[in-house]
Amino acid sequence: MRWNRLLSLQSCLVQQNTKLCRLTHFLFCCSEKPSPATRTMNSKKRAVLFCIVFLGLFSVVAVVYLDLDCRDGTEVWIYKRKLQIAELKNEIDRWLTIRMSGSTASKSPHTTPGERYALLDYRNEYGNQEPKNVSLPQWFNPRARMDVDTLTPWSAPIIWDGTVERSILEDHYKRKNVTVGLTVFAIGKYLDKYLKNFLTSANIYFMPGHNVIFYIMVDNISGVPSIELDPLRRLKVIPVEKESRWQDISMMRMKTIGDLIESRIRHEVDFLFCMDVDQVFESYYGVETLDESVAQLQAWFYKASRRVFTYERNPESAAYIPYEEGDFYYHAAVFGGTPQRIYNLTRECYEGIRKDKEHNLEAIWHDESHLNKYYLRNRPSKVLSPEYCWDYNIGLSYEVKNIKLSWLPKAYEEVRNK
Ligand SMILES: *[C@@H]1O[C@H](CO)[C@@H](O)[C@H](O)[C@H]1NC(C)=O
Ligand SMILES: *[C@@H]1O[C@H](CO)[C@@H](O)[C@H](O)[C@H]1NC(C)=O
Ligand SMILES: *[C@@H]1O[C@H](CO)[C@@H](O)[C@H](O)[C@H]1NC(C)=O
Ligand SMILES: *[C@@H]1O[C@H](CO)[C@@H](O)[C@H](O)[C@H]1NC(C)=O
Repeated sequence: MRWNRLLSLQSCLVQQNTKLCRLTHFLFCCSEKPSPATRTMNSKKRAVLFCIVFLGLFSVVAVVYLDLDCRDGTEVWIYKRKLQIAELKNEIDRWLTIRMSGSTASKSPHTTPGERYALLDYRNEYGNQEPKNVSLPQWFNPRARMDVDTLTPWSAPIIWDGTVERSILEDHYKRKNVTVGLTVFAIGKYLDKYLKNFLTSANIYFMPGHNVIFYIMVDNISGVPSIELDPLRRLKVIPVEKESRWQDISMMRMKTIGDLIESRIRHEVDFLFCMDVDQVFESYYGVETLDESVAQLQAWFYKASRRVFTYERNPESAAYIPYEEGDFYYHAAVFGGTPQRIYNLTRECYEGIRKDKEHNLEAIWHDESHLNKYYLRNRPSKVLSPEYCWDYNIGLSYEVKNIKLSWLPKAYEEVRNK
């Protein structure tokens, strides 16, 4: 339709060209005084040249116009998705606000920035480059997937299916006898609804063959399902008390994880993942995801341009990221790394949230906004493709070949109507 219009406009211009050419001839040739014969020849040449240039420019303008139009469509699409996700998220926050308590806050009063990052001793010294003693080219082949970006601008691997030589990593971490922690909050209706599926699937697919400790934060211990776990897995249930209410679940989560790392996790695990409970593992989610600092690409935004990322855009907020900055939009449903790095992350995010609260602000995506700010300042050493946290509402994508973990969005309706 649009092309037809453009073509007819073009042919119309071609018919009009004699007049235009006369005009150009007048404009460009008035200073010269050649013989009448050369004059007509020159004017014909100029006419042809002018028309070619004009049509060329016109095509460029037309292409740019069409391209902008398509991009608009994408932005509208993403914007609509954002609204839908926002609705869901508000809904969830409302339930959780009712359920959450602030018990841990009173245990450790605010410290000064110097003390906040006081060096703690950890179970093992993992860090810098993971895996230690196995170089990146030995286990990672960025060229195995030419259809997607497999390296960040700062040369950290983006783990897509097919890029990893898994057996080398398995051997390495087996020899190291690593223990991986996984924290998950199952509060209120989330406990009944999601915890069982999450744990059952994690028992099978999360770090198979390696030691795993699940840290389950619950508000009702008797609601924790009894599941027969693999011998390499342990379950630790941490009650979250209910005395006082917290208005901000995300602040609570970052605070609790930080406190927990300080009090016990740092003595118990080498790597730690923090995940949302409303997800289910679908296939092998293994040691290729371990690193010092690991971030998850948000499935809805992995192909989007930086301007449409839902970063916090208010300069007053601690989570503020200007439009011309930012690498990726990361998902708060999954983040991981060494305990010391996650300790740092949770403390920084908590501090940001606390500062915002003092100024009566709340970042647009709560802890996720602060997480994105943290990762912008402290770039992750490994990034996970959307295969590691897919949303089937997007449909299927050609690039997403092997889904390891997925959201369970359909069940929201069910919980909401209870
Ligand atoms: C490093 O790798 C070499 C060969 O791959 C191995 O012999 C050595 O034991 C490794 N060292 C450590 C500390 O893992
Ligand atoms: C490996 O680590 C686990 C958990 O920390 C421990 O129970 C086990 O004894 C260790 N195995 C070896 C061979 O060191
Ligand atoms: C705690 O869980 C148990 C078992 O699912 C349930 O019977 C009980 O009502 C729950 N208590 C609260 C306060 O939700
Ligand atoms: C933790 O954060 C502080 C402040 O941002 C920084 O100086 C320090 O290097 C960080 N430590 C680690 C292990 O990332």
